[in-house]
Amino acid sequence: MNKKVVFSGVQPSGSLTLGNYIGALRNFGELQNEYDCYYCVVDMHAITVPQIAKDLRKRTLDVLALYIACGLDPEKSTLFVQSHVPAHAELSWVLNTVTYMGQLNRMTQFKEKSRKSDENLNAGLFTYPVLMAADILLYQTDFVPVGEDQKQHLELARDLAERFNNKYSETFKVPEPLIKEFGARIMSLQNPLSKMSKSDSDENAYILILDDKDSIRRKIKRAVTDSEGVVAYSDEQPGLKNLINIYSVLSSEDVETIVKRYESEGYGKFKEDLAEVVIAGLAPIQATYANLINSKDYLEKIYKEGADKAEYHAMKTLRKVYKKVGFIPRR
Ligand code: AMP
Ligand code: TRP
Repeated sequence: MNKKVVFSGVQPSGSLTLGNYIGALRNFGELQNEYDCYYCVVDMHAITVPQIAKDLRKRTLDVLALYIACGLDPEKSTLFVQSHVPAHAELSWVLNTVTYMGQLNRMTQFKEKSRKSDENLNAGLFTYPVLMAADILLYQTDFVPVGEDQKQHLELARDLAERFNNKYSETFKVPEPLIKEFGARIMSLQNPLSKMSKSDSDENAYILILDDKDSIRRKIKRAVTDSEGVVAYSDEQPGLKNLINIYSVLSSEDVETIVKRYESEGYGKFKEDLAEVVIAGLAPIQATYANLINSKDYLEKIYKEGADKAEYHAMKTLRKVYKKVGFIPRR
């Protein structure tokens, strides 16, 4: 039986946040029994913003260890590093030639990033979504689990697949996004109108998967709420809404139950309990991570085997693509 294919990636461009966990990693594990899953550490995407080589190497292993700590089983899912499979860069080049400049100009993430950094406006930042499309299309992917912020990039991947198929005949599967209704957009603790991001300059804005207990308690205590003073779930109280979402996802309790419990308690007690819910939710991940990160040989074995397996499948697609565009085979 041919299982449907799932592909997703996370950038090793900082320590992962609770947003990454809730919006992405937590959902990856649920898929691995039913689907043929590929989870990639996208180091080539990470260098579109300035990186220190030594740190990038460390973070790449960190993300791999966190994949496993969050429940991914290397026996079931293919875990690998993007730069180990050159087909990603190769397909990306071909896809560049069917991508319109105008499309890339409309990408919100590019617009935001270019607004923030006028110094390092490199072309890689512009073509970032094309490389992401290559990641996905190489594996004939059916489903892509991501957070809400990646929706537009996925639309582009679908569009490029369709355009290539129309121009050169059926080659790529057109992928579908898998975006959870709940938790797909965890907001900053300091500004509940922008998403929680590991690149935020204010470290109180995010909780890291590897934050210690005291940091978690402190950050949640300082999280921005409002002056209403009543625990309720509404768009008028976006800070609180975000905290309730986090509580709900990590405790598996529904929003109503949570609001009922705290409506007469005020924010202090709610935040204290939320901190404990987050600590308890992250504790098993942190423990597994701590073990894994010292097992370099094990991690090396995982990413080597992962890359071999990924490459085998990626090359099948790339060979088809090269043939269709008119490249003569080397042998
Ligand atoms: P990145 O860290 O940009 O590589 O993102 C990795 C995954 O985490 C992607 O699927 C994102 O959509 C998801 N993600 C990142 N930040 C958040 C957030 N604040 N809330 C929900 N999902 C997120
Ligand atoms: N661009 C994604 C992000 O920042 C990471 C990513 C790269 C990705 N390639 C991908 C996600 C392929 C899903 C599928 O979150």
